[in-house]
Amino acid sequence: MPDKSLSGEVFIPSDEVLRHVHVRDWDKLIGEAEKDLEGFWSREAHELHWFEHWDKVLDDSHKPFFKWFTNGKTNIVYNCLDRHTQTARRNKLALMWEGEKGEFRSFSYFALKRETCRFANVLRSLGVQKGDRVTLYMGRIPELMIGMLACARIGAIHSVVYGGFTVEALHERLEDSQSKVLIVADGAYQRGKIVPLKAIADEALQRAATVESVLVVKRTGEAVNMESGRDMWYHELMALPIAGMQCHIEVMDAEDPLFILYTSGTTGKPKAILHTHGGYMVGTYSTLKYVFDIHDEDRYWCAADPGWITGHSYIVYGPLLNGTTSFMYEGAPTYPYPNRWWQMIEKYGINVLYTAPTAIRGLMRFGEAWPNRHDLSSLRILGSVGEPINPEAWKWYHRVIGKGRCPIMDTWWQTETGMFMITPTPAVTLKPGSGTRPFPGVKMDVLDEEGKPAGVNEEGFLVIKTPWPAMMRTIYRDPERYKAQYWSKFPGAYLTGDSARKDEDGYYWVIGRVDDVIKVSGYRLGTAEIESALVSHHAIAEAAAIGLPHDVKGNAIHTFVIVKAGVEKSEKLIEELRAHVAHEMGPIAKPDSIQFVDSLPKTRSGKIMRRVLKARALGQEPKDLTTLEE
Ligand code: WT7
Repeated sequence: MPDKSLSGEVFIPSDEVLRHVHVRDWDKLIGEAEKDLEGFWSREAHELHWFEHWDKVLDDSHKPFFKWFTNGKTNIVYNCLDRHTQTARRNKLALMWEGEKGEFRSFSYFALKRETCRFANVLRSLGVQKGDRVTLYMGRIPELMIGMLACARIGAIHSVVYGGFTVEALHERLEDSQSKVLIVADGAYQRGKIVPLKAIADEALQRAATVESVLVVKRTGEAVNMESGRDMWYHELMALPIAGMQCHIEVMDAEDPLFILYTSGTTGKPKAILHTHGGYMVGTYSTLKYVFDIHDEDRYWCAADPGWITGHSYIVYGPLLNGTTSFMYEGAPTYPYPNRWWQMIEKYGINVLYTAPTAIRGLMRFGEAWPNRHDLSSLRILGSVGEPINPEAWKWYHRVIGKGRCPIMDTWWQTETGMFMITPTPAVTLKPGSGTRPFPGVKMDVLDEEGKPAGVNEEGFLVIKTPWPAMMRTIYRDPERYKAQYWSKFPGAYLTGDSARKDEDGYYWVIGRVDDVIKVSGYRLGTAEIESALVSHHAIAEAAAIGLPHDVKGNAIHTFVIVKAGVEKSEKLIEELRAHVAHEMGPIAKPDSIQFVDSLPKTRSGKIMRRVLKARALGQEPKDLTTLEE
């Protein structure tokens, strides 16, 4: 029951919402899972299909390399598709899709399974085997989902590269994953323009050596270069007899890899976060069910991109595991008018909307008249993810979109966690700006520099103290980095990289990253990647990037560059550098400002002190300059 004695501004669940939820007494479930962690996850896992039962729920004998559901045999795709096609859900819509230009496509569970099987057979015929890596690089189109599922069905490891990234980002990921196959769209629509994905891929492929086959999905129909012997059209392959409708499913060990997904870390190259079939399946299934209170009649929309973890867990796997009907939209939220999203909610009768604070703030700017033109009464639950949501945006979302009826699920998690970690459910009393408390079975804390629990409302390092089934298993091909990055600062605790505080009611308030990661419009970018894109330009000797507060994007990218001797510091060069970063990494990484400097503050060991740059830019006194060399 909601606790009316909580401090601060609270929102108590309505009877209407409470009547609907899977679990009314959330505290009781949290208590049970605390007493019996393995029992809780075992019950959740039993709701899914296993070819063979597991021996042990959790094996923690080789910390921090945890194993879940050891020796259990399953395949996440069996649970996403085959399980449902054996029931009345066979004819239920699995996916409804709208293109930016307004086209509509839909797939029943039966049809999605068929297309997945056909494409899986194509991949097999090209020699793709269990354990091989396949990179996918597309916009938000159904073939991305089909491609991911087809890989997983035959035990190949998918690596999705966000369609907003460009040449160098794609090259790096192809190379690091040693992908055999690249699946790419000819292009993607974005605000009425075409992003030439295949042309970008061609450039990246000149630098990447392992790719043998490139499968091209026709989306825009624009002319593309097809290299003979390497490039093939998806639709032509799917028309061949090899694309048969029956496809033997690979029986996977619970701990077999499902996918890798690259994310930015503190230093150097992006890290390949590895997730597995068993634990990831149980974690995403269970969290989505409880948090968004999924029922069979729902139409659910996660507006993220499948190219990020939010899309992997809560557009592709979680919704399909729950047998729900998902909606996917290809384009920009405000195209051609700022009512596009609200129009589609009305048109498709969406019940659950899950998006990011940056999108809400962006839409807020256009005023209430746009959403008010539409009947949004189908909405029951709203969600937020990616960065802290400021209470002003929370309240607008709650009042204007949810009409004061829809609870907001502010879910804190990461690429590495695979599933929601700090989250309410609709049965929990909410405080705007807080994700409330950890999910059942998850123990977290806020620690000070010495590793002692921080006091009430005191800012500190956010850590996770118990293993959870959807946790990353390692950094692909770099287990040492996994240990060093996540498990070395505080013994026995997983370091999130975020700072947070816990209030008097035990509610968590995430403040932001404490490492060299910048959240721009909810996207995670490493300062190191932006800097290396800048120095890859012939005029630049050194560069530093920092994030500074921005009203819509959360953070804006500010950079400082030292030019090489003899280079003229001009406006023209600044524009050239911004375009260069957009070309190498992607438009999301384009610096908002570039400032010429003669030196950068550094430690004695030569590391750039970004916090000094940040403090100066904000007009603050930088704390603790003892190691500054400059
Ligand atoms: C980082 C992880 C996991 C989905 C998308 C992001 C920030 C995420 C919240 C939230 C405050 C949040 C954290 C985290 N973050 N959700 N609800 N409130 N901050 O995944 O790209 O791996 O980024 O996003 O800083 O560490 P990601």
